[in-house]
Amino acid sequence: MATVTFDKATRIYPGGDKPAVDGLDIEVGDGEFLVLVGPSGCGKSTSLRMLAGLEDVNAGAIRIGDRDVTHLPPKDRDIAMVFQNYALYPHMTVADNMGFALKIAGVNKAEIRKRVEEAAKILDLTEYLARKPKALSGGQRQRVAMGRAIVREPQVFLMDEPLSNLDAKLRVQTRTQIASLQRRLGVTTVYVTHDQVEAMTMGDRVAVLKDGILQQVDSPRNMYDRPANLFVAGFIGSPAMNLIEVPIIDGGVKFGNAVVNVQRDAVQAAADKGDSTVTVGVRPEHFDIVSPEDESKSLTKEGPAGLAVTVNVVEELGADGYVYGSAKVGDEHKDIVIRVGGRAIPEKGSVLHVVPRAGETHVFATSSGERLTDS
Ligand SMILES: Nc1ncnc2c1ncn2[C@@H]1O[C@H](COP(=O)(O)OP(=O)(O)OP(=O)(O)O)[C@@H](O)[C@H]1O
Ligand SMILES: [Mg+2]
Repeated sequence: MATVTFDKATRIYPGGDKPAVDGLDIEVGDGEFLVLVGPSGCGKSTSLRMLAGLEDVNAGAIRIGDRDVTHLPPKDRDIAMVFQNYALYPHMTVADNMGFALKIAGVNKAEIRKRVEEAAKILDLTEYLARKPKALSGGQRQRVAMGRAIVREPQVFLMDEPLSNLDAKLRVQTRTQIASLQRRLGVTTVYVTHDQVEAMTMGDRVAVLKDGILQQVDSPRNMYDRPANLFVAGFIGSPAMNLIEVPIIDGGVKFGNAVVNVQRDAVQAAADKGDSTVTVGVRPEHFDIVSPEDESKSLTKEGPAGLAVTVNVVEELGADGYVYGSAKVGDEHKDIVIRVGGRAIPEKGSVLHVVPRAGETHVFATSSGERLTDS
């Protein structure tokens, strides 16, 4: 087992005007499951391929444990990779598919058999060892691809969207299996996906990339609770965080008819940058609905307190529901998503008055996108 270090690793493709991966700095712990996530083209596969030795590193270094592997060929890195298009050999049995890399490496037959049987047991493939891939389900084939990596007993597993060929239900099952398998084997793993739910549910830590630049690397919890900038705030979480640009006024920011007390320091920091607005982030579950009975108490000169949201669409999910509405903020109409209880679903067309819950707002500089709140 080993740590993995990306030390300002940079990849510029021939003819490219800017790096596909720009100064990537990540230290993956021994036995850790690190997920690289981000939109299409952000440099996830390139990062993984640099670690695998399939792509040149133009600046910086890559280390596995204390070995500098930056310029080593793939076969000398002690890694095993599972790709999105894990082509199994159709004419070979499951056992032969799993043992093929060991056979090429000259491992003796008895040892291959032993490792394949162990991996098959772990992956629940024992009864399929004599079958050909075409006689397996998608999920079973995917496990064979995993098995090929496991039998090599590498220091590091690399996986690039290994679940993208599976249907939605199987993806969810298989992601749990991969995560628990990784924990059992304790092999350091770097896993690539564009799916933030997969990233959040599988990773010990998650690294978010955008345009080749690392935005934040953190535990799923911290990533959700304290996104470092507007991009991460909007990318992590489903439905996405509401991000609303609001004017700075004395003591806070104005949210419809309500003055929301956000951290004074945050507002001051924005004002110091010369910004007249900040962007406030509120997750759908962090709005309080000012109920009609309370409204008399919370009336202001300008009408009921809070932001008036007109309900456009309601998504009922049973335990809870999501209201997709619109609200007038300043002179613009903004789309707002609010989570409501499953037994308190409002009518389409009705108006809700909502207030962001104290202590659950995020404040970002409108100009730079940086997080300004520190908790
Ligand atoms: N062989 C190549 N030659 C030139 N440019 C490339 C090459 N491979 C990738 N790129 C470019 O580098 C950038 C990063 O690509 P990469 O494949 O790493 O993205 P990704 O995050 O894996 O995206 P996806 O989620 O679509 O797989 C993209 O702009 C892509 O067009
Ligand atoms: Mg990719």
